[in-house]
Amino acid sequence: MKKSISFIIAISLLFTLSCKKESAVVLTDSGLNPILFQSINSDGKKSDLFVLKNKNGMEICVTNIGMRIVSLMVPDKNGEKKDIVLGFDRLEQYENSDNYFGAVTGRYTNRIANAKFVLDRVSYELRKKFDDPNSLHGGPNGFHTQYFTITQENETEIKGNYFSKNKEEGFPGDLSITVTYKLADDNTLSIHYEAETNMPTVFNPSNHSYFNLSGDLSQSVLDHQIYINASTYTPLNENMIPTGEFKDIKDTCFDFTQAKTLESGIAECGNYDLNYVLGSEGDISVLAAKAFSPTSGITMEVYTTEPGIQLYTPEDLQVTGKKGIVYKGNNSFCLETQHYPDSPNQPNFPTTVLRPGEPFSTTTIYKFSTNK
Ligand code: BGC
Repeated sequence: MKKSISFIIAISLLFTLSCKKESAVVLTDSGLNPILFQSINSDGKKSDLFVLKNKNGMEICVTNIGMRIVSLMVPDKNGEKKDIVLGFDRLEQYENSDNYFGAVTGRYTNRIANAKFVLDRVSYELRKKFDDPNSLHGGPNGFHTQYFTITQENETEIKGNYFSKNKEEGFPGDLSITVTYKLADDNTLSIHYEAETNMPTVFNPSNHSYFNLSGDLSQSVLDHQIYINASTYTPLNENMIPTGEFKDIKDTCFDFTQAKTLESGIAECGNYDLNYVLGSEGDISVLAAKAFSPTSGITMEVYTTEPGIQLYTPEDLQVTGKKGIVYKGNNSFCLETQHYPDSPNQPNFPTTVLRPGEPFSTTTIYKFSTNK
């Protein structure tokens, strides 16, 4: 008898404990399980999922590895919150992917020709991937793979700091970067980058979110209307490196000065992977770009202090993402605010050199609204 009572007690204890464990898991509005983003690596570095919300119920979930935006919920024309960025349900999936989903890219977003540059008469060689002659997005172990230390200021703001050591991925100088994500009640997400270096270096951070404003990440974005405030672009050579010229956009299929669908653009131009020279010229109060989904009624406006923006419409994407949705080509688009590609080797482009004692500060704002 005694034995069976203690057996029952043990079973009920186990049951209570397992129920407790179950009920302790609170999913985010976007359906993410924060536990699946918690880890400690062999160096004792920790990862987690951080959640920001504004008073309209807009929600952004961020992991400190690469400051990746994992989900971004914004209201559609019916007031329902929809996730509008590609990403994964668990951390390991990010480790096995080279798409930079939602990440802060750096130290140098986009390409540097032949992964080399000269600064103050010193030559630097950068790390690159085996299949690309250039440096791309800061190298294989760029910011997108690094652990940022997060301070959650309040419900609407986080700051992530990362200390990048001299010669990391080949870049000179110890560089400390702080990225702030802030949601405001007018449904804006602002991303603010600050940095300091102890040696002359080059620096060009951005955010690499893949957007799909339809409200259904399995859907195509070809019906999205795009506007870009740019009358020139930086043409590329066969290695995706700017030739150094500025070309007029007029009468080309690159022209988005009158909003048009991605479908009509891609039909003429093929998929986009191009840097636009912004007419906003670093003035954050002037609209830089805009995207609109007729299905959800969601509009995204982009404002930035940066002089350029990369329109990237991945053609050959084939990856299983959040909730088992398969992301394919024409499922998403990126609008990456940045300095022009290969600026360290292009004397005619605005400089990306950062020197000790010069504070670095740039901001990009994504503003969301709806139209019926
Ligand atoms: C670049 C593409 C590159 C992609 C990788 C984009 O920012 O412009 O050329 O293939 O990132 O995700």
